[in-house]
Amino acid sequence: MKTEEHKTPSTPIPTLQPTPSTPTCRKPTNPALIWRLIILIASLIIYGIYKNACAMPTTDTDLSPYTDTIHIPFIYNFSTKHVPQVMCTVEGVDIEMPIDTGSTGTLIGAPILPNIPPTAGTPAHHFFTSSKILYVGRLVDLSIDFIGKGASYATAVVPVLIVDKSWRCAWYDPSKHTFTCPPGPDGEEAGERDTSNITYMGVGFGRNGPRDGKPYATPKVNPFLNVEAIDGERLSNTAMRVGYIISTKGIHLGLTSSNTRSFTFTDLEPGLTHDMDPRDWAMANMCFSINGRGRNCGTALVDTGIAQMYIRAEGDVSIPTVIIPNPNPNGYAAMVKRVKPGTNVTIGFPSLKGTAMSYSFVVGDNTSIEPSFVCPQRADHPPFVNTGRNLLFGYSMAFDAVGGRFGFRPVDSSSSSVL
Ligand SMILES: *[C@@H]1O[C@H](CO)[C@@H](O)[C@H](O)[C@H]1NC(C)=O
Ligand SMILES: *[C@@H]1O[C@H](CO)[C@@H](O)[C@H](O)[C@H]1NC(C)=O
Ligand SMILES: *[C@@H]1O[C@H](CO)[C@@H](O)[C@H](O)[C@H]1NC(C)=O
Ligand SMILES: *[C@@H]1O[C@H](CO)[C@@H](O)[C@H](O)[C@H]1NC(C)=O
Repeated sequence: MKTEEHKTPSTPIPTLQPTPSTPTCRKPTNPALIWRLIILIASLIIYGIYKNACAMPTTDTDLSPYTDTIHIPFIYNFSTKHVPQVMCTVEGVDIEMPIDTGSTGTLIGAPILPNIPPTAGTPAHHFFTSSKILYVGRLVDLSIDFIGKGASYATAVVPVLIVDKSWRCAWYDPSKHTFTCPPGPDGEEAGERDTSNITYMGVGFGRNGPRDGKPYATPKVNPFLNVEAIDGERLSNTAMRVGYIISTKGIHLGLTSSNTRSFTFTDLEPGLTHDMDPRDWAMANMCFSINGRGRNCGTALVDTGIAQMYIRAEGDVSIPTVIIPNPNPNGYAAMVKRVKPGTNVTIGFPSLKGTAMSYSFVVGDNTSIEPSFVCPQRADHPPFVNTGRNLLFGYSMAFDAVGGRFGFRPVDSSSSSVL
């Protein structure tokens, strides 16, 4: 069910001005021909006015012409402890799909979709540098139904990686290795993973940067940007503002004036393939300070896929850290580095002034917005922050893929009740 009534865009109706008759030297020889010519010219003028009025309704940030949207609730209460999940149906199979804004693209284990022939699709592999997991399989174009309230649903069509094999492969080098995990440096065999429970959906933007090693992470594989129908009814090109909102309650697909009320936006820079696909935008700009000092400006990722924060400062800025025994029993390192309790981290979008949004926390104060822990990163690249998902306890976020904007709305904002 579309949650907003359809509004007709208020296009000014062009009034036809009578064209002043220009004196001509030649005497009209065929009045019927002249009359037809006048009709033709008048039609062209009307068409021209109409076409311009429709092609450029208003400014790029006016969402009033857009009416199509749907709310897809999270299945479970939003929690630090797990990736939020939505209900979806793929090839007749119900899947509790984790929604990750830190990656782009969908993974489904082959055993989950028995109706897809083992030879269907184009061979492909994805490697996740964060988890060191290699996924190998085939890209198959699939239709995914996202289940909303009542009987409502939205249908997206995207290539999905059907995973035939998967390994935890710490030594995998995306620049050298392709479809298998080679033996490790000491000849060790990689641990092969069960594919029967693999489900993951990346809906992030700006993830196809050269350093991310994911050139495939483009808008065309992002299900949230490729919604083709709501309740089985094909969307027109003009009624849905391509983009999404994520709150602790769930997702809105399609931006409208109403569902973006009280959001404050910051402009995004064009993404790597923006020339080929205008929906491709870079990660948001931000700056952060540590204990009120420094101005570390770079990009930020609000990543629903993780609970912790990663933070990288300018080379000459030191972040107070502690070294502790690795609390992760599956971790590789015995000891790990963390930002020291008591450290004040203040982050502003797009700058420390925080014209779109700014927030701060003190490590160890245990406020809801504080990430589960904060990992300092070596300053071998420009400043960066991955906020982790706990930011959503303080702010909902919106991605406008048409206007190239990223927005925030405080969760205690009174208008959040409209959701
Ligand atoms: C989910 O949240 C609601 C409202 O905040 C609460 O009443 C309910 O107990 C929660 N459910 C679980 C399973 O935690
Ligand atoms: C896969 O998921 C099912 C249902 O959640 C669970 O019972 C099963 O143990 C899981 N299998 C593995 C290998 O994790
Ligand atoms: C962190 O520091 C900033 C400025 O330096 C201050 O405005 C903010 O209130 C502090 N945050 C907390 C949670 O103490
Ligand atoms: C925050 O939580 C940690 C771990 O549960 C606890 O050790 C610490 O005392 C808490 N800090 C505050 C300020 O409550």
